Amino acid sequence: MIESVFALTDLALRTFGAQKAVTAVPTTVARLVERLPGCRVIWGDDGSPYLLRIYLVRIFRRRLPGVFLHYFFRGDRERAVHSHPWQTSASIILSGGYVEERRMPDGGTRSEAFFPGDLNIIAGDTFHRVDLMKDGCWTLFIAGKRTKSWGFSERPGHFEPWQDRDKRIAEERE
Ligand SMILES: [Fe+2]
Repeated sequence: MIESVFALTDLALRTFGAQKAVTAVPTTVARLVERLPGCRVIWGDDGSPYLLRIYLVRIFRRRLPGVFLHYFFRGDRERAVHSHPWQTSASIILSGGYVEERRMPDGGTRSEAFFPGDLNIIAGDTFHRVDLMKDGCWTLFIAGKRTKSWGFSERPGHFEPWQDRDKRIAEERE
């Protein structure tokens, strides 16, 4: 649905020669959508929308397994790889698709493409990031028990909690 709205808006703006406005459309739509109950938008460092999360099942304030719909506005290749707060999570690609870069136990990285219908299992100690194959990607995300915080890793052995990273980036901008 949202994908169709973006596609139609994009087509209309291109038709009328307003390409510059096209990039602003997802931001405007995301600002409206995040006001809806059960919706949350995760924003990138540059203030553009990164991920829309629609809570289908959420029990006891995220401490127990939850089921979400995710819409990736874009990938997150500009950031370091990140972990998840859940013991295990599973992502089923519904539309679009992404290439995941995942850090392996030996410190190397593995890239794997995920297409509609594919299942991606993400353990709590996995560090990864994704790059979209084309604009927009819907996934059904099943989050296991929330067991810890999460953060980013610039290199093997390095870990920066997300709160510390947000603070550092805000300070660097001042
Ligand atoms: Fe992730």
